Amino acid sequence: MIYLGNLIKSYGKNLPPAVNNLTLHVPKGDLFGFVGPNGAGKTTTIRMICGLLRPDYGTINIGGYDHRVQQEEVKRTIGYVPDFFGVYENLKVKEYMEFYGSIYGISDAQIRKLTGDLLELVNLSDKTEVYVDTLSRGMKQRLCVARALLHNPALLILDEPSSGLDPRARVEMRELLMNLQGMGKTIIISSHILADIAEMCNSVGIMSRGHLVAAGKMEDILGARESSGRIIIEIAGDATKAAETVRTMQELRLESVKENEIVVGYDGTDEVLNRCLGELMRSGVMMKGFHKEEKSLESLFMQVTAGGDDGTN
Ligand SMILES: Nc1ncnc2c1ncn2[C@@H]1O[C@H](COP(=O)(O)OP(=O)(O)OP(=O)(O)O)[C@@H](O)[C@H]1O
Ligand SMILES: [Mg+2]
Repeated sequence: MIYLGNLIKSYGKNLPPAVNNLTLHVPKGDLFGFVGPNGAGKTTTIRMICGLLRPDYGTINIGGYDHRVQQEEVKRTIGYVPDFFGVYENLKVKEYMEFYGSIYGISDAQIRKLTGDLLELVNLSDKTEVYVDTLSRGMKQRLCVARALLHNPALLILDEPSSGLDPRARVEMRELLMNLQGMGKTIIISSHILADIAEMCNSVGIMSRGHLVAAGKMEDILGARESSGRIIIEIAGDATKAAETVRTMQELRLESVKENEIVVGYDGTDEVLNRCLGELMRSGVMMKGFHKEEKSLESLFMQVTAGGDDGTN
């Protein structure tokens, strides 16, 4: 559904590219989570996909349409929920939907029907006569999704739709998106809430400093690390001796040494883990505790985006 090839975008000659040689494929029907530290380049990428920003270099193909020659078709294929919800003074929910429906050139009768259906889908049926500006943040986000679906796009792109939502609203947003995926939509969602992404998405891409540093099916990307494990061992006192002991064992990798802690890589099996701990005890190393590194999206994120914040925004 989406092919991005070697995309580059810079906001100024002397600035490092916000998106740097990004290549990505999102198959039809995926619910794809797009994550990365602040300033990683997610919004920039999304805005290029939606045709709101022109890449300096690279190809964008959406649903078989080339962004350079088939802009209209690309726009028709995409429903976009931006990261910022505008101000809509004196506009009721119903009028908001009518306004956007007319932009898409949908007939009045069709808009009325769609408004009813879509507001029901996003659970806002009882708000049609309410002023948009008085809706809660979660309701506004859902209204934005309803609006983005008016022209029945095959691809829905949401830039941080869950930011600032309370836990219940987040769950509702998650369910709505999974529901839409079930209806056959391809969905891209950027978010900083990794637990949400891990829960709902079947594929994921992690961006850092303009680069895509990891991408693929959720189970592959997390499973790839399952074949190898890491254990974090807390040492009472100096960790030097523990580090030396680990170095003598071929089946272990010493990944880091801190004052009172070592991180050891191994094949993930209980046998090797036990040999490691046994050898440490025999060497007289006093351990305070140990834990296996969790194979979560969060730990992968921390690993591949090491270096912290990517920008100043
Ligand atoms: N309009 C702009 N002018 C100049 N620089 C920009 C502009 N928009 C974004 N940038 C820069 O481009 C880089 C990528 O920003 P972008 O907004 O794409 O990141 P992001 O991954 O969406 O971050 P966040 O998680 O904070 O939303 C950042 O360094 C940012 O400062
Ligand atoms: Mg952003």
